[in-house]
Amino acid sequence: MTKTIIISNRLPVDLKIKAKKIEVRPSVGGLATGLSTVHRQGKSIWIGWPGLTIEEIGTVYKEKIKEALKPLNCVAVQLSDKDVSGYYFGFSNKSLWPLFHYFLEYTEYQPEQWTTYKEVNEKFAETVLNNCNDGDTIWIHDYQLLLLPKILRDRNPTLTIGFFLHIPFPAFEIFRTCPWRKELLQGMLGANLIGFHTYDYAQHFLNSAKRIVDIQLHFNEITYDNRTIKVDSFPMGIDYYHFYNTALDHLKGKYIKKSDLKQHLMEYRNNHPDRKMILSIDRMDYTKGIPNRIHAFGYFLEKYPQYIGKVRLVMLSVPSRANVPQYRKLKKETDELVGRINGKFATIDWTPIWYFYRSMPFENLIDLYTNAQVALITPLRDGMNLVAKEYIATRTKKDGVLILSEMAGAASEMQEAILVNPNNADQIAEALHTALEMPLKEQIVRMEVLQSRLSKYTVEKWASDFMKQLNDSSIPKVLNSPSELLDRTALEKMKLKFKTAPNRLFLLDYDGTLVHFKLNPENAIPDQKLYELLDGINKNNNTEVAIISGRSRRSLAKYFAHKKYTLITDHGIWIRKIDEEWKKIENPKTEWKDSIRPIIVCFVDKTPGSFLEEKEFSLAWHYRKAEAHLAEIRMRELRIVLSGLVTDSELSILNGNKVLEVKNSIVSKGRAITNLDLDADNFIFVAGDDYTDESMFEMLPPNAISIKVGNTETLAKYHVQNILALRNLLKNFESQ
Ligand code: UDP
Ligand code: G6P
Repeated sequence: MTKTIIISNRLPVDLKIKAKKIEVRPSVGGLATGLSTVHRQGKSIWIGWPGLTIEEIGTVYKEKIKEALKPLNCVAVQLSDKDVSGYYFGFSNKSLWPLFHYFLEYTEYQPEQWTTYKEVNEKFAETVLNNCNDGDTIWIHDYQLLLLPKILRDRNPTLTIGFFLHIPFPAFEIFRTCPWRKELLQGMLGANLIGFHTYDYAQHFLNSAKRIVDIQLHFNEITYDNRTIKVDSFPMGIDYYHFYNTALDHLKGKYIKKSDLKQHLMEYRNNHPDRKMILSIDRMDYTKGIPNRIHAFGYFLEKYPQYIGKVRLVMLSVPSRANVPQYRKLKKETDELVGRINGKFATIDWTPIWYFYRSMPFENLIDLYTNAQVALITPLRDGMNLVAKEYIATRTKKDGVLILSEMAGAASEMQEAILVNPNNADQIAEALHTALEMPLKEQIVRMEVLQSRLSKYTVEKWASDFMKQLNDSSIPKVLNSPSELLDRTALEKMKLKFKTAPNRLFLLDYDGTLVHFKLNPENAIPDQKLYELLDGINKNNNTEVAIISGRSRRSLAKYFAHKKYTLITDHGIWIRKIDEEWKKIENPKTEWKDSIRPIIVCFVDKTPGSFLEEKEFSLAWHYRKAEAHLAEIRMRELRIVLSGLVTDSELSILNGNKVLEVKNSIVSKGRAITNLDLDADNFIFVAGDDYTDESMFEMLPPNAISIKVGNTETLAKYHVQNILALRNLLKNFESQ
């Protein structure tokens, strides 16, 4: 039975060694808190880093850690001090985190840290591969593991791989500054489905992928490496009823045990019923806008002095990534700012800010949420922000006001909150004033809408939506691996036919079938292994290897003229049979070229990087090297212009792989292969990768073997995933 494996840098628990004992604490951060619910309910395994390094664990605690994690269905990835330093504190949190949150001034790039990041992604892959079986579903999370989807896809193509990014994906102009941008995108593109919290992040990703990697895009579906990859947004929710019901229990006094915090909060409320509490909770992270918030609160007290002594800001800041200098700097700045505001406004029996620098257990968080009339959440940039959602879920009486930064992913689903620009202190002060004065009726109206939405789109729903799409978008297993598709029986049958048939024909398209596309077609040259493979097949008795291509005669002859293969070029105009001269099998008109050429030249001029290839019987506009966004717009324009001109049914416009080609309609590979021996008794093996090859598949006798390289729709009988898979298949027919 196949299973689901969740993979993230952090496990849902964080292990520490205290007094020679393993201490298990829940991890903080939205990813761990959110996914824990999903993990607890399902039958998944969770693979991640337990928070202790190999050096800390030593031999003493290794078994104990396994034992501690086993009942939680968790498996630890073993990381050394060096790994954690280069991969976690280094590339993940000194390069990717600031870059993806638009903090370019904090972003640094150190090649050694990038190397460690790659090595650690490999380590994660090892652990995953040791714990999974063919066909399993893998769900990878967040920026620490951007390379993992590709590593796993390359090692085991039968896996269904989902990837979810919990932080923003930045705009292209930001992302392009990363020296390893291409590798990062290629890593993510190993997945079948890539999910983001918001539509904007998904669009930013698609835009970068389009410009940096050679993908083809159709709405939100990418075709890359002969696979289809879906990209979509899935706003993460929370375990709504867990928060709601716990808050209800607290309200009904069911929660008997009173912590110090609860005691304090109750005293504050009872002794000063007219005082109000404003709450903020976040990790101590520069993306969370903590100093801005404190400044704005100070400004608010100045602007509205009537609130002095009447409101308090309770700020819970959870320690995070303290080894990274910017986080230490932020802690210092926050301490000073809190001190400054408290020093300036405090009275004998009132301090404006209560500031906690620690994490708190769940029950305490509920106490904070339920006691706060206002939540003030002002990140400068935040992938989602679950705290905002948790606050709403605990407001069982439907009172309370949420002030939320418009820079948080959550803002796009929480329009009934008071949305603010976190850089605008005056706006925040006004929002605080509005929130504190908001009539209860209005609070309830806003809260009801927010609660109704959050209670529907819970974290379980989020996970099940993602999983459903992942299973739908995963390429049917039969297409995923040639060995599965051409199972033993099919392959054996094929081999038998090959042995017994009087004659054998291997009819193979060139670009995209035998070799990868290159920016410049001149560089897509056959490698030594390909020659050996084709020669190996050709050596069999009564066997003909034919290469068929849209390339010009001159271009294909350069690679294969010296070989004893049949060559068909220019989409089927020229043929050169073994030991014969080139022969023209079609003689189409070419006068039309004089009127079409200037138009294409004009498009070449206004699309830098594109070029015109003049073939004997066609004109091809190549745009692979042009800037992707512009090229796509120009390609559409050119197609419209050409379709207006090419009314002559003898001409057709072919929309190929980053090429638009005008040629005579009568010419096709399908017509050309009628010049070969297609006798039904023969063994006929035909492979191709794009629509021009479909005309061949159409012409074949029923018992021929037709193979499409890639997974798009086809008339061919079989698919293989990519060029490598086809070459592996062909190896079965090499002469021994
Ligand atoms: N949280 C926690 N302990 C604390 C404070 C916060 O477990 O002492 C949780 C909080 O309930 C929320 C998560 O940490 O679920 C923070 O997630 P959010 O999306 O707001 O921010 P992130 O830390 O992921 O950037
Ligand atoms: C954010 C990230 C998570 C991360 C969490 C806590 O939510 O998206 O990937 O786990 O912060 O950060 P930490 O570095 O302590 O894991």
